[in-house]
Amino acid sequence: MAELTRMRRKLQNCEQEHLLTFWDELGAAAQDALLEQLETVNFEQLRDYIEQFSSEAPLGFEHTDVAPPPVLPHKPVTAEQAEFYQQAKDRGNQLLAEGAVAACVVAGGQGTRLGFDGPKGCFQATPVAKKPLFQVFAEQIQAASNRSGKAIPWYIMTSRTNDTQTKAFLRRNHYFGLEPDNVRCFRQGAMPAIGLDGKLLLKSKGSLAMSPDGHGGILPALRKSGSLDDMAARGAALISYFQVDNPMVRCIDPLFIGLHDLHGSEMSAKALPKRDPMEKLGNFCVVDGKTSVIEYSDMPDELAMCTNDQGFLKFSAGSIAIHILNRSFVERLTKDGGCSLPFHRAEKKVPHIDATGKKITPDQFNAIKLEMFVFDALSLADKTLILETQRDEEFSPIKNAEGLDSPMTCLHHQVRRAANWLEEAGVDLPLDADGQVAAAIEISPLFADSAEELAAKLEPGLTIASGQQLYLGSRGQIGGTK
Ligand code: UTP
Repeated sequence: MAELTRMRRKLQNCEQEHLLTFWDELGAAAQDALLEQLETVNFEQLRDYIEQFSSEAPLGFEHTDVAPPPVLPHKPVTAEQAEFYQQAKDRGNQLLAEGAVAACVVAGGQGTRLGFDGPKGCFQATPVAKKPLFQVFAEQIQAASNRSGKAIPWYIMTSRTNDTQTKAFLRRNHYFGLEPDNVRCFRQGAMPAIGLDGKLLLKSKGSLAMSPDGHGGILPALRKSGSLDDMAARGAALISYFQVDNPMVRCIDPLFIGLHDLHGSEMSAKALPKRDPMEKLGNFCVVDGKTSVIEYSDMPDELAMCTNDQGFLKFSAGSIAIHILNRSFVERLTKDGGCSLPFHRAEKKVPHIDATGKKITPDQFNAIKLEMFVFDALSLADKTLILETQRDEEFSPIKNAEGLDSPMTCLHHQVRRAANWLEEAGVDLPLDADGQVAAAIEISPLFADSAEELAAKLEPGLTIASGQQLYLGSRGQIGGTK
């Protein structure tokens, strides 16, 4: 069999011939499937990565020319800026009304820290209605479409592992009210897991252990899946990018869209002022003249703690994975079908079989996964923009099962944001002895998705009792318990 001989030679050249150890034990169909899977792997490129990554810890950060980037404040500070922000908001709304914006969520991650059995987008995340994450975003998209009068296409990046389940979930839930034609799932690529000895791991006798290629995999996946062409056919020139684990994200933000466009930016990002120098957020920096994100793990402590003349943290802008990208920028980066983003190394526990075919379930990290990060595209953009946002308004990711960034903390933050909006609208809130809001409150984006919209819509006379569950949905207020 010529294909097998060619593949065997290729594997020998890359010192990966163990991948065919169990070849003779496989049936014809399993042999075909294994060959097909091996054909998808770029072994020459992998050999370089293995050399670079598997023998030692990451090299870390090496540049000397590092400066903080310019960051626009979340609210204008001068009259001139106020005028510019108003123009930007108008421009954003105009682009939405023209149908120039697509929403795009990356939902292909494995969510190992949360440990939820299923795609993370199906996780019930809201305090009263217990809506799954996908519904939270669908309602925001619907609300923004209602306002602009134009449908917003929604692209959802899945992985091999969760694609079928994600599609079935969306279908079962009637796309949460969106037109099925406007919701499009596309699969990201995968990379083989590398054992600590530099050998690729087998998941079974006839298949490699693969994992999704990181959120940066969105760029080649948008191209390969035909999603860029689909966007072009619909007239969508801008991609509003967000992650599946943050239900507080404003996934369609006219101000952010307008600022991006008026600034002539190719890729923009939202930033949060870091709580402290060591907070685990990527750091926005200008490295060798290019806007970049330095991962918290790569940022030398002395740089992270550096202060400016006024005594404030010099590198205070943290990355929260909310972006606008020009479709033409993604087209440029992926024009050869590949993608110009580098791979990063992540240490993981990967179940596999050993040389005798025995199943191994490791209890400590045994493999390296290669992942691309979407924020690496910033340094490839001709022009960028960073807009500060507020933590209370827009960021509470669900990462861990317990503790920090968990479902509990996120529920708390969602209730607090809803309470802040209600307070701004003049509603009194019941508080407990610790000064925390003593009610569960949820405001559907279909009722209002900003404090201003809520204040404009709310009927006077709303009272909230201690211990009450209050849901404000598309059909108005549902008091008591939902
Ligand atoms: P995380 O970095 O939190 O990774 O992803 P994860 O895989 O979801 O979770 P852990 O680390 O296993 O606990 C941040 C965002 O990027 C998406 C995730 O779905 C999430 O929205 N992502 C991550 C992808 O879409 N693909 C990937 O390969 C990795």
